[in-house]
Amino acid sequence: MKVDTLILGAGAAGLMAAAHAGPNTLLIDHAKAPGEKIRISGGGRCNFTNMYAGFENYLGQNRHFHKSALTRYTQWDFVELVGKHGIAWHEKTLGQLFCDDKATQIVQMLVSELRDAGADLWLQTEVKELRHEGTRFVTRLSREGKEITVTSANLVVATGGKSIPKMGATGLAYDIARQFGHAVTDTRPALVPFTFDKGRFAEISGVSVPSQISCNGTMFDEALLFTHRGLSGPAVLQISSYWHEGETISVNLLPKTDLAAVLKDKRRSEGKKALTTELAQHLPARLVEHLKAEMDLSDKLGDLSDKRIEALCQDLTAWALKPTGTEGYRTAEVTLGGVDTDGLNSQSMMSKSVPGLYFIGEAVDVTGWLGGFNFQWAWSSAVAAGQAI
Ligand code: FDA
Repeated sequence: MKVDTLILGAGAAGLMAAAHAGPNTLLIDHAKAPGEKIRISGGGRCNFTNMYAGFENYLGQNRHFHKSALTRYTQWDFVELVGKHGIAWHEKTLGQLFCDDKATQIVQMLVSELRDAGADLWLQTEVKELRHEGTRFVTRLSREGKEITVTSANLVVATGGKSIPKMGATGLAYDIARQFGHAVTDTRPALVPFTFDKGRFAEISGVSVPSQISCNGTMFDEALLFTHRGLSGPAVLQISSYWHEGETISVNLLPKTDLAAVLKDKRRSEGKKALTTELAQHLPARLVEHLKAEMDLSDKLGDLSDKRIEALCQDLTAWALKPTGTEGYRTAEVTLGGVDTDGLNSQSMMSKSVPGLYFIGEAVDVTGWLGGFNFQWAWSSAVAAGQAI
């Protein structure tokens, strides 16, 4: 069969592209349902964009590539679309917009948009082979036990990254990119919890504190969660995108407290008080108990010298921790790296060397922070490709 456009991958980017690529479009996916990551995202409520989405919220080898698409299809365009479909939403925190009800509303919205645009959606369809013949792409698909060859003028690759293989992530986009002579930058799991030596934080698993975590000159001011395996929570997921194997992160456990001032004041007025008792006023008691094993906290407030206070502040506000690794693609929300943007046109997402070939969404070397930025990239890059087609 012949179509104008074949889109591989009915996730966030593929669904959105299908709604913009014109009527003679076929969207395929090997999964049983479209938009599975949308469905489970944001705890089932989908953090579909961020009010403050800006260029600085994205990582990638080319610091400018994402700007054009994000400028032309913004968070407000997506909010308008959500409004058009009568989906109620709210801001949770830090500009993160969530559905009031269910994430599946976003999937239904996108499916209805692509159907209105006249596109077709085939699920449980595998890609068997892909070739380029002249100006046409010839894709051999397998669907319901039958082989179908689809010829298309345009091929949009929206099969995402490697994160959560259990949900159908395959890395197909990278294979296709290489097949057509595109470079793929190093990929690694991002927005992912850190692991530590066995059991290091097990006894305080579940304790969460406000924190500032920094690594390689970037800092995030959000919650930190101790887990059986190590560290998680928004601040940790965010900083994981900036961390490399073997590096140390710096954790400020008291970002809102001037600990030195508090201790200097209290050593005069409450000199007999144990340091740990005072710290338990500012941190969860279970954490203070745990910290006794990590650092020396045996002093009485009255015994603290200025130098000792300085050292304590260093320990608690610049706690140097060296993760042994991350939980990997098994739980990573996204894949950092991907199809090298040097080979793509930033306005259309089209390959510079193979006309009609497009890469969009997470497959591309553009990675957003936690907080709705990755879906916004999926929407914006998809619309850029769809409109160019
Ligand atoms: P996506 O992964 O969505 O879609 C790729 C599609 O291609 C899938 O449907 C897959 O089945 C299909 N596919 C893959 N290989 C194939 C093959 N070989 N043949 C056929 N089909 C194939 N982001 C955000 O902004 N806000 C949030 O709240 C969250 N929350 C969140 C939670 C969790 C648990 C995860 C794992 C991720 C998030 N994210 C997120 C990230 C967000 O889900 C992600 O950035 C987008 O889904 C990327 O959209 P894509 O369409 O590029 O890939």
